[in-house]
Amino acid sequence: MRKKIVAGNWKMNTSLAEGFSLAKEVIAGSSRVDQGVELVVIPPFTHLSEIVKLARGSRVRVGAQNCAQWPKGAYTGEVSASMLQSAGVEYVILGHSERREYFNETNRSLFEKLQLALQENLTPIFCCGEKLGEREAGQHFAVVEKQVAESLFGLETRQVQQVVIAYEPVWAIGTGKTATADQAQEMHAFIRGLLAGKYGSTLADSISILYGGSCKPSNAAELFAKPDVDGGLIGGASLVAADFIAIAGSF
Ligand code: 13P
Repeated sequence: MRKKIVAGNWKMNTSLAEGFSLAKEVIAGSSRVDQGVELVVIPPFTHLSEIVKLARGSRVRVGAQNCAQWPKGAYTGEVSASMLQSAGVEYVILGHSERREYFNETNRSLFEKLQLALQENLTPIFCCGEKLGEREAGQHFAVVEKQVAESLFGLETRQVQQVVIAYEPVWAIGTGKTATADQAQEMHAFIRGLLAGKYGSTLADSISILYGGSCKPSNAAELFAKPDVDGGLIGGASLVAADFIAIAGSF
């Protein structure tokens, strides 16, 4: 059985005090969510160690939004995977489309980041997804296949086993325009097929594939009902604890 996961990517939002309260509310609300669902909050770097301490003893896990592609050294402004591990962080988002777009992340640099994160026993949430023009041109499967193959397929089986994938069509992020449940299912099944082709179906069946992009309480149940949708990576709606909890309660 693969894990059901609902993760909140706070992006560059909340002061430390606001983030602390939000995490507190999520922890308080977590009792309303089925125990089989893993809840993850993913605040900005500055909030991580406070929120890790707050979440200790609760069922809520903490993730980071990125890590460096180098292990350590003279890379001013960067945060390494081992630093995250030392702060008690358990998950790390890698390859979010905003980072690909604004910070020039490439499939190759993401392969480096994945290896470092895995060495530190972090669970990477590897993001993939096509832009609007690519979908309109019918290239969405090819785009996602390239992202998955170039970043993940250099990993060994035991490494890929630790990875969570998030399919986030760029045209659905922050736009209010969600992929339909059928569109999400179609792409998730495609991604699982790619994994099966490379690593075998047992491994492919064990990998959680999350959907991200304008997921909210009103559409989560329909998305999560699909057989290959194992949860969500939530942006805007994760900034309101009640909405985040309602989404996680949609399984
Ligand atoms: P929204 O839920 O705000 O569309 O963002 C999705 C996302 O990018 C999560 O990583």
